[in-house]
Amino acid sequence: MFIFRRLAESDLEKMRAWRTAPDITKHLFTKPTITKEDQIKWFEGIKDGESYRCWIINYDGRDIGFCTLSDIDWTNRTADPGTFICEAEYRGKGLVKHIVYNVLRYGFEEMNLLKILGPIVAANVAPRISYEKIGFKVDGPFEEIKSGKAFDIFTVTFLSTDWEGMKGSIEYDVAKEFEGY
Ligand SMILES: CC(C)(COP(=O)(O)OP(=O)(O)OC[C@H]1O[C@@H](n2cnc3c(N)ncnc32)[C@H](O)[C@@H]1OP(=O)(O)O)[C@@H](O)C(=O)NCCC(=O)NCCS
Repeated sequence: MFIFRRLAESDLEKMRAWRTAPDITKHLFTKPTITKEDQIKWFEGIKDGESYRCWIINYDGRDIGFCTLSDIDWTNRTADPGTFICEAEYRGKGLVKHIVYNVLRYGFEEMNLLKILGPIVAANVAPRISYEKIGFKVDGPFEEIKSGKAFDIFTVTFLSTDWEGMKGSIEYDVAKEFEGY
């Protein structure tokens, strides 16, 4: 059973441990170290949910990771998805599709987004294949330069019209609670 809880100040130390774990950061652009002060400052900047929304994923009573909609653009009605199963024993169990479908439902039906899209580093195979199996369109690879370094990325895209077309026919564990912003 899933519960999606809006990120709260009381979650910050757990988030900091997750966001600095090498198996999570290896394909991401986050800083390898984050101080307690960095984390509090970051939370102060995002807690209103205007351009970034984050939920702790609780599965069968345990907090197993978090998911995000970031770079929210209210003019064009787009956002970038992020899915993080941080407790490693919960990966490889097929939970990702349930998590992502709950986020798509919230993004399209509650936030009224038109498109959910984002980049994925090519070397990060699990999310790319997971998103593709869930129904995202995958494009790439494209070369990207970040901090003077070249690497390949794919983009993953899901349209609100895709959601309208498939929401009646997919089976997933609808979250018992999905705390809104
Ligand atoms: C991305 C993430 C949420 C995916 O969850 P997961 O539990 O690892 O995914 P699963 O193992 O259930 O894989 C989902 C599907 O992709 C397939 N898959 C995953 N990795 C694969 C690989 N390396 N090669 C081939 N297929 C793969 C699985 O076989 C599965 O297919 P199925 O549903 O037909 O069985 C998880 O790996 C994670 O949290 N990674 C770290 C954080 C991260 O990088 N997040 C992405 C930021 S956007």
